Amino acid sequence: MPDVIDFDALAPYERYKMMASLIVPRPVAWVTTRSADGVANAAPFSMFAMVGEEPPLLMVSMDRRKEGNSKDSAVNIDATGEFVVHLADESLVEAMDACSAAHPPEVDELELLGIETRPAEVVGAPIIADAPVAFECELWQRLEIPSRHIYFGQVRRLHARDGLIDRELWRVNLGDYSPVGRFGASFYTTTQDRFALAGAPTRTTIDSL
Ligand SMILES: Cc1cc2nc3c(=O)[nH]c(=O)nc-3n(C[C@H](O)[C@H](O)[C@H](O)COP(=O)(O)O)c2cc1C
Repeated sequence: MPDVIDFDALAPYERYKMMASLIVPRPVAWVTTRSADGVANAAPFSMFAMVGEEPPLLMVSMDRRKEGNSKDSAVNIDATGEFVVHLADESLVEAMDACSAAHPPEVDELELLGIETRPAEVVGAPIIADAPVAFECELWQRLEIPSRHIYFGQVRRLHARDGLIDRELWRVNLGDYSPVGRFGASFYTTTQDRFALAGAPTRTTIDSL
């Protein structure tokens, strides 16, 4: 018999564990923001999804710290309405994971960890120079639920590593792209083990999508 779990009867942490451990692997949004005082911040968030293209929206969900206060990323988005979502590939996973350490708001994780950045075009948050992909976002809508702040960002610019995108066909050269997925804690998977089902449209290959 399948194990049927009544979610109404679970505590929030138990619900979180069941969803976060089963809905895997999740892509990770490596989010940069800037505080009202100008301090840059970076942190990873795997409660993250693409949710639409007209307007083009990304969603990132941030819980509160045990003490009840908001994470720096949430405080900064509330203050500026801006953020940048990067995807990290294998070469950057350690730097991305290191950005999850809880530092006080005046600490710039990027500077602390020696992660090189450059200015974005339309938002004040910095772009991580080595990230294969960065989406500049302006806050489109914010939802507040008892456990979380949920931000919908409208993508205004996409920055992609040189050669990653074929702009004639709007295809991505997957040979140059290996974002990691998250299972939980600091437990990741690569995206190297790719396969296309027989009969998949010919324009969909494991090299280009
Ligand atoms: C790979 C990874 C994914 C994470 N995903 C989330 C998430 O989706 N939501 C969240 O609130 N915290 C998540 N965290 C924890 C935050 O990164 C962590 O609380 C961080 O300190 C927040 O930084 P900030 O205060 O600078 O915003 C994740 C951590 C890691 C390592």
